[in-house]
Amino acid sequence: MLQDKIAQYTKEIEQFTPASAADVENFRLKFLVSKGIVKELFEEFKTVSSEEKRVLGKVLNEFKQLAETKFQESQTQFASAAKVHKREEEDLTLPGDGFQLGSRHPLSLVRKEIVEIFKKLGFIVAEGPEIEDDWHNFSALNFPPEHPARDMQDTFFIKKQEGNDIALRTHTSSVQVRLMEAGQPPFRAIMPGRVYRNEAISARAHCFFHQVEGLYVDENVSFADLKQTLFHFVQELYGEGTKVRFRPSYFPFTEPSAEMDISCSICKGAGCNLCKHSGWVEILGCGMVDPNVLENCGIDSKKYSGFAFGMGIERITNLKYEIKDLRLFSENDTRFLSQFETEII
Ligand code: PHE
Repeated sequence: MLQDKIAQYTKEIEQFTPASAADVENFRLKFLVSKGIVKELFEEFKTVSSEEKRVLGKVLNEFKQLAETKFQESQTQFASAAKVHKREEEDLTLPGDGFQLGSRHPLSLVRKEIVEIFKKLGFIVAEGPEIEDDWHNFSALNFPPEHPARDMQDTFFIKKQEGNDIALRTHTSSVQVRLMEAGQPPFRAIMPGRVYRNEAISARAHCFFHQVEGLYVDENVSFADLKQTLFHFVQELYGEGTKVRFRPSYFPFTEPSAEMDISCSICKGAGCNLCKHSGWVEILGCGMVDPNVLENCGIDSKKYSGFAFGMGIERITNLKYEIKDLRLFSENDTRFLSQFETEII
């Protein structure tokens, strides 16, 4: 009889305690699929007398409800159990995924090194704007208007204005002027910064690069002070025993002016491609600050004298790490940059 069957299966469902996900699946196959027991009992329900239907309709519906609820409960129980099980299977002894650390840019590393050396000699760090006027970039530095020396540095002009054009600075010497205008000697400062020149980009030239300029102005500063300071700098940066030599040169803002070479850091003077087999490589320009420049900045050139020097950070870095293409510095290729990873300081 239908009523007995319902009672019997109800008992079975109530007692059902699955031990695995497979038990739950078997339960579903037995009771809930289209040929399962629930469906079967509903078929049988159609055949009973209408009197019985009145009683059994409710009982049968409750039975169906019971079977579905039991199935859902069992299913969630084993679904979460399956997850826990999976996590336990993970091998906790495996090494973790490494996360990549950034690294300092080689130019930052070298700039920092240069700054540290001069800091120990009592130089402070001074900075100035990258957008400059004609006065600070040229005129105050003894470049008269229309003077051919202005063409030594191809300039990116921003705004032409009567007597005082606005441009991207072509060298950090502009910071010298700003520093001297703002006070009175003694001055002992180095000025790192980015500079711009209108040049076609190639392995050997770029339209922007970085310089460090140095300035020392006080009473009785001589060329001997300049030589000794730069000699010390080179020993610190390229190692004891590096030789220096000075060649006469020309800059409008220094008199006398010189270019300084060091014995080739790669072949130690024996001759290689880098030094074009001369044994020497040029690293900076320097000289005694022209008295006109001191006067332009409101400093008494009878009382004070000074020296200045300027170098390209890219050039110094190229010599240190033997980098042959300037474009690598600004392309952000991590294959290049990651080579400096160990040098985090
Ligand atoms: N400003 C010069 C340049 O960019 C370098 C320099 C600086 C030379 C100071 C002498 C003294 O070429």
